[in-house]
Amino acid sequence: MSKEINHKLAKLQKKYSSIGQDMNSYLEGLLYTNPLSYWDYINLETLLSLQRPKTDFPDEEIFIVYHQITELYFKLIIKEITTICNNGKVVSDIGEDKGWKKTLSTNDFIEHLKRINNYFKALISSFDIMIEGMERSQFLKFRMSLLPASGFQSYQYRIIELMSTDLINLVEKNYRKKLSKSSDLDKFKKIYWMKGSVELKTGKKTLMLKNFEKKYSKLFIKTYQNYKKNNLFKKYNALKKKDQKNEVLINQLKLYDLNVNVEWPLVHYKSAVKYLSMPDKDIIATGGTNWKKYMPPKFQKRIFFPNLWTETEKENWGKNWVLSNFK
Ligand code: HEM
Repeated sequence: MSKEINHKLAKLQKKYSSIGQDMNSYLEGLLYTNPLSYWDYINLETLLSLQRPKTDFPDEEIFIVYHQITELYFKLIIKEITTICNNGKVVSDIGEDKGWKKTLSTNDFIEHLKRINNYFKALISSFDIMIEGMERSQFLKFRMSLLPASGFQSYQYRIIELMSTDLINLVEKNYRKKLSKSSDLDKFKKIYWMKGSVELKTGKKTLMLKNFEKKYSKLFIKTYQNYKKNNLFKKYNALKKKDQKNEVLINQLKLYDLNVNVEWPLVHYKSAVKYLSMPDKDIIATGGTNWKKYMPPKFQKRIFFPNLWTETEKENWGKNWVLSNFK
C-alpha cells in the first residue's frame, strides 16, 4: 500500500473515531456502493417531474418552470445572506476542520453580496424570457384555474426581506415614522405587503393572504427573531467606521437595494401590466387585490439600507432618476 493511501487511512480513522464510528464498517460499505451518476446526483428525473400543470394549455408549463427557477435562485440568495449574517460559520456534524473560514472579513462580505447581486441580475434579465414566451390569451385562461394562489405567497421572498433589514424598513411607508418605537407585533401588523393582499372593494384580507398567514406566520416570526440583531443592515452598521466607508461594499449594498426593491419589482410589474391591464378596465388580480396601486416600487418605497441614500434619492425611489444616478 502506498504511503499516500496509508496517510489517507490514518486521516479517515481519525475522522470516524472523532464521531464514535468504526472506520472498518464504512470501508465495507464502500465495497458495495455503486459509482455515482449525474442524474442521481442532481435528482434530475425528480426535478423534471415537478411540473404538474392544472390545464392543457402548453404555456402553463413555462409559467411553472419559471417560478421554480426563481425559487431556486431565491434559495441561493438566502444561502449567501445566511453566510454573511452568521459570519461565515459552517456547522458540520464531523468535528473536523474543513478549512472553511470561521470569520467573515469585509472582502468576504463584498464577495457574497456580489453573488447575491449576480443572482438577482439573472432574475431581472430573464423575466422577459417568460414574458416573451407566454401567450396572453393562454395565460388569462389558465390563471383562473390557479386561484387563489399567487406568487405573492412566495415565502422565500419574505425571508429574504426579513434577513436583509430591520422590521421598521418593511413597514408600510406611511406608518414608518409613527411606528418607529412601537412593538414588533404592531410593526408586523403594518408590514407593507398586507396592503397588497386585501380586497380592493371591502379592505378585507383575501383568502390568498389568510392561507399564507396560516402556513408561514410562525416561520416569519422565527426568522425575524433570529435575524433582528444580525440582518444585513445590522451587519453593515456594526462594521468598524473605516470598513463602513469601503466604497465597493457600499456600492454592492446599494445595488442589492435597487435590485430587490426597484429593478425586480419593475420587471415583475411590467409582466402584470402586460397580462392584466386592459384599456378600459383592468383584469382583477388574485382575490381582487389593488395590484396597480400596490406593486410599483415608487408606491411601496421599500429601502433596506436607508442610511446609504440621500433624502432626494429616497424621495425619488422607484423612479428612473435614482437608477440613472446610480449607474
Ligand atoms: C405572468 C407573470 C406574472 C404576473 C402576471 C404576476 C402578477 C402578480 C400580481 C398581480 C401580484 C399582486 C398580488 C396578487 O394580486 O396576486 C403579484 C405578486 C407577487 N408575485 Fe407575481 N406575477 C407574475 C410572475 C411572478 C413570478 C415569476 C414570480 C416569482 C416567484 C412572482 C412572485 C411574486 C411575488 C413575490 C409577489 C409579491 C410582491 C410584493 O409583495 O411586492 N410573480 N404578482
